[in-house]
Amino acid sequence: MINKCLFPAAGYGTRFLPATKAMPKEMLPIVNKPLIQYGVEEAMEAGCTGMAIVTGRGKRAIEDHFDISYELEHQINGTHKEQQLEGIRALMQNCSFSYTRQHEMKGLGHAIYTAQTLIGNEPFCVLLADDLCINRGGRGVLAQMVELYAKYQCCIVAIEEVALEEVHKYGVILGQEMAKGVYQVQNMVEKPKLEEAPSNLAVIGRYILTPDIFEVLKHTPPGKNNEIQITDALLQQAQDKLVLAYKFEGKRYDCGSVEGFIQATNDFYQLQR
Ligand code: UTP
Repeated sequence: MINKCLFPAAGYGTRFLPATKAMPKEMLPIVNKPLIQYGVEEAMEAGCTGMAIVTGRGKRAIEDHFDISYELEHQINGTHKEQQLEGIRALMQNCSFSYTRQHEMKGLGHAIYTAQTLIGNEPFCVLLADDLCINRGGRGVLAQMVELYAKYQCCIVAIEEVALEEVHKYGVILGQEMAKGVYQVQNMVEKPKLEEAPSNLAVIGRYILTPDIFEVLKHTPPGKNNEIQITDALLQQAQDKLVLAYKFEGKRYDCGSVEGFIQATNDFYQLQR
């Protein structure tokens, strides 16, 4: 249904300094697997095989991670340690990886626009790897969204309820509930003050976008924090056509923050024991 998943991974990751000074935050491991690998696994489960990654300066480790390391392979060949590479080998066999660079960090909307050449004229998923999602015993969040896309064929954002004191960190929607957990977006505000928030339904790092979003992004002026915001482009889209917000099943960890990262680490460690 949807073949490509885009991973905007060019941000500076300032909340995780100094760890992210020379290393992309997408390579931070939860237990022994980097965040971006969890993301690629979720995209694969949703049926995507083309992984398009927007990188920036100092992000080469991501490309190396999804490549063969001949010395390492040679070193552990025939030992029990080979098992630890089985997961990543399977990803590399089943997916293709393409990269483009965002030269200036002009915001998430700009990062997505930068990837137009990798995506082309087809609907695509967007996954922000620092939002780590699990749905224990059920389908992943992107797989749930692809199923919804099959029905409506429109842009979809994943949302969750957050505490009102937290709304200033997110894009926040106002929506009309059309079916259980599925809202038609009527308004969307990027990082609103508490008194300006239209609800406490916050957009998290999972999107399905139709390719006409590129034309909208091309004309979207810088918004909040002087960055080109995908929220503004989607609001524009919602004024012309259907845009959905979907309250997903599962749990999200904000691994771009130290607190969320520690929580995810503890929970994933317990799960693996
Ligand atoms: P964040 O708001 O989390 O920003 O970006 P950040 O720079 O990564 O992290 P902090 O806030 O400084 O700690 C949301 C997502 O959008 C990507 C980031 O990589 C992240 O996945 N992004 C953001 C870009 O790719 N380019 C940009 O210009 C901005």
